[in-house]
Amino acid sequence: MQKAEFSLGKEFAQKFDSQDPLRSYRDKFFIPRQKNGDECIYLCGNSLGLQPKSVHSFIGQELQDWAELGLEGHFHARNPWIHYHEFLTKPMTPLVGAKPKEVVVMNTLTVNLHLMMVSFYQPTPERNKILIEFSAFPSDQYAVKSQMKFHGFDPKTTLIELKPKEGKAIIDWNDIENVMEAEGDSIALILIGGVNYYSGQLYDMKRITELGHSYGCKVGFDLAHAVGNVPLQLHDWELDFATWCTYKYLNAGPGSVGGCFVHEKYADRADLPRFAGWWGHDKQTRFQMKPDFVPIKGAEGWQLSNPPILPLAAMRASLTIFEEAGMQNLRQKSLLLTGYLEYLIEQINSDEISIITPRDPESRGCQLSIQTKRNGKQLYNKLTAEGIICDWREPDVIRVAPVPLYNSFMDVYRFSEILKHSL
Ligand SMILES: Cc1ncc(COP(=O)(O)O)c(C=O)c1O
Repeated sequence: MQKAEFSLGKEFAQKFDSQDPLRSYRDKFFIPRQKNGDECIYLCGNSLGLQPKSVHSFIGQELQDWAELGLEGHFHARNPWIHYHEFLTKPMTPLVGAKPKEVVVMNTLTVNLHLMMVSFYQPTPERNKILIEFSAFPSDQYAVKSQMKFHGFDPKTTLIELKPKEGKAIIDWNDIENVMEAEGDSIALILIGGVNYYSGQLYDMKRITELGHSYGCKVGFDLAHAVGNVPLQLHDWELDFATWCTYKYLNAGPGSVGGCFVHEKYADRADLPRFAGWWGHDKQTRFQMKPDFVPIKGAEGWQLSNPPILPLAAMRASLTIFEEAGMQNLRQKSLLLTGYLEYLIEQINSDEISIITPRDPESRGCQLSIQTKRNGKQLYNKLTAEGIICDWREPDVIRVAPVPLYNSFMDVYRFSEILKHSL
């Protein structure tokens, strides 16, 4: 469907909701309510995904097995805990486009970024720089700078920021080419957010990876805002590594366990420097408790500790829903939902706001970032008071993300009406 076919008026939203093949999925989630009992308009899955109703039974099963079996649950629970993280690999691999041995759920995002940099940031006197986005998420900036210092390099000279052109929020392909032409030979690692958390820009990860590799750089992506939002093909795109969290579009619950991808080509590289822990040790001999570390071949070889079962159970509840719904179907609906949101915001035609997210649907996911000109925080507060849950990012952006699993076209319509009246 083309943008031009959208129309004003709530009948359009009602019609699209009635024709939506994914409409029944909304009922699988708890929608937060306002004080008056009405459902909120929840447009914040880019920050924290909603709770699947099935989480209770998934966690309940593990609580019951823990109560009844104690330690024995490691081997005799209905879903033996010793293998529990492996139950997440099957539904996770199609979401990121990877082979099973390339994916593991473990730790949290920033921890995994550090673990990946231990292996893939190997600075030398000639090649020691890291390229990140200008407005990279703060945790990524702290992690990268601390890795540089750890290796004895000064971030002031070692960190390169990929900047958009003056006055623009979006990075163009030639901005990337220019920085690589100037600095490529001294860059050890490119580490970029697959979807930028602030602008909502989706990068061409395949092309960036190819370009980075042509200069001899390692290339990794932070997929916090990409996974469960846009289809990914990490194996075919030949990324060296990627890390992500699961509490945003993947609805695994606040602070839940992160995910990590390491390309198959490193599966047998026991020689790679890494920080090791017993859960990354070869499964056949792990319990022989020998002192020398033998890594599992593949991403699991980067695990440190035995994982927390209860958050993994919540993740399993959500990924089961993703398996049913299918990422391609979700993306199809997402393109419509976000296109509709864009259309309605354009129709408001206010010079108080502008959309900074790319207008090309292929260069964005669910999220639109609305830049405010004056009193943006006040506008955000008004939206919140009207029952909208979206978020504010300093200095001047309201992020709005209709999520195809549980948002409706009516949610988008209602949001736009409230936005219009609040301006
Ligand atoms: C892009 C990005 N990177 C990193 C993080 C940090 O994640 P964590 O607290 O799970 O390490 C976040 C958190 O929202 C994020 O959005």
